[in-house]
Amino acid sequence: MDKSNGIYWDREKEVMSRDELESLQVRRLRETIRQASKCKFYADKFAEYGITPDDIKDLSDVTRLPLTTKEDLREQFPYGMLCVPKEETVRLHTSSGTTGQATVIFHTRNDLEQWAELIARCMYMVGVRKEDVFQNMTGYGLFTGGLGFHYGAEKLGALTIPAGAGNSKRQIQLMQQFGTTVLHIIPSYALRLMNILTDMGIDPRQDLYLRIAFLGAEPYTEEIRQRVEKFYGINAFNSYGLSEMNGPGVAFECPEKKGLHIWEDHYIVEIINPETLEPVREGEIGELVMTTLAREAMPIIRYRTKDLTRFIPGECACGRVHRRIDWIQGRSDDMIIIKGVNIFPMQIEQVLMSMSEVGNNYVIILEKENDIDQIRVQVEVHESIFQEDMRYLNRLREKIVRELRSEILVTPRVDLVESRSLPQSEGKAVRLIDRR
Ligand code: COA
Ligand code: AMP
Ligand code: ZN
Repeated sequence: MDKSNGIYWDREKEVMSRDELESLQVRRLRETIRQASKCKFYADKFAEYGITPDDIKDLSDVTRLPLTTKEDLREQFPYGMLCVPKEETVRLHTSSGTTGQATVIFHTRNDLEQWAELIARCMYMVGVRKEDVFQNMTGYGLFTGGLGFHYGAEKLGALTIPAGAGNSKRQIQLMQQFGTTVLHIIPSYALRLMNILTDMGIDPRQDLYLRIAFLGAEPYTEEIRQRVEKFYGINAFNSYGLSEMNGPGVAFECPEKKGLHIWEDHYIVEIINPETLEPVREGEIGELVMTTLAREAMPIIRYRTKDLTRFIPGECACGRVHRRIDWIQGRSDDMIIIKGVNIFPMQIEQVLMSMSEVGNNYVIILEKENDIDQIRVQVEVHESIFQEDMRYLNRLREKIVRELRSEILVTPRVDLVESRSLPQSEGKAVRLIDRR
């Protein structure tokens, strides 16, 4: 049913009163606890915490529930947190990583429908309409940015080009051929594409039809937004999400551009001190913690996102009731994001240490090349390997690149260096150097 009108995609859900919203959240939280209890993991947790759905009297009771971490998801991989019979699920998205590191999220048909609704809500909010041509330039497949935005845009009714990541000349050609007006693009790639457009002698303001872009999937700054807006002649909006909470569509800037509305009819949102796990004071920075409120296949309770942000105090001039969070300020763990892909240094270590040729020391260097972040790994190899000819060394280097790529999904630069040539750090080894 098309409920859109003027500025709201779903007025009933976007502009209800705070009281109405909170009682909806409480009702949905009770239902979520009931649903989550269908997997042993949460049934055991709720028993341990002595909590039943009826114990939830008001919103503050959410803090009586257990926190969930990425480690929990890893331990329960693959089916341990599934709350419906497998035949009710219709899709999954996994993170990168071999067993031990990977996480998976399952969706029923209804979960996907709800997710598409949220994306359509975000897109409509910033002015996308069915007359638009939407080019989705993030990864399809297991990444959530591709299929997530895809179904939301189709639901809204925009002509959707499932372009996917990379292949820059083709991307530009598609924009020209079909008159693309709206982009979903990772900010670092938007910067990279600026150089390619300039080299091709194309001025987007004159030669293309772009008017709106969604920039997300990695941290960036207001300065980058403004550079992108100026070069492409567009209005760019910050889009935040994470696979555990579906993917994109969790929080999104409205036309006021004063923070990202986080859709509280679908999520209970808390911000906690990552050390004490206590709520921070309103307006203070802390770790975002979220509880799904409408998911069937895999409800998640009080998920520690590890993303650092703060609530923006006050109401938004756009009239939406949902609170706003600030742009993500960093992480409370060591995850890095390169080319829109999440990487844990531990994944690199596991690959390297499983190779007999590799010595005991390595360093990961993050660097910028033509505006794009790259990852360089310097690897110590055993003495005897340097006695071999160049062909052998090159083959080994290529093998390490291949193995790392299949684990982390981006292509690293790899330098082989002699044993004991990398700095030996005293105490905790410094294995990550950020030169960006
Ligand atoms: N998004 C889209 N394309 C990107 C990109 C990004 N973040 N970063 C680089 N690219 C482009 C490059 O410009 C290059 O284009 P070309 O074909 O015109 O030369 C191409 O992708 C390959 O770049 P390279 O640097 O060699 O890639 P890689 O092997 O290190 O990584 C990617 C491969 C880019 C495909 C991979 O990093 C990816 O899929 N990124 C997108 C992730 C994503 O969509 N995340 C959203 C999560 S919701
Ligand atoms: P994924 O689960 O692969 O979708 O990655 C989710 C993570 O990407 C989040 O936890 C954030 O760390 C990061 N991320 C996504 N969107 C943004 C954004 N708009 N700004 C900053 N970081 C983001
Ligand atoms: Zn607003």
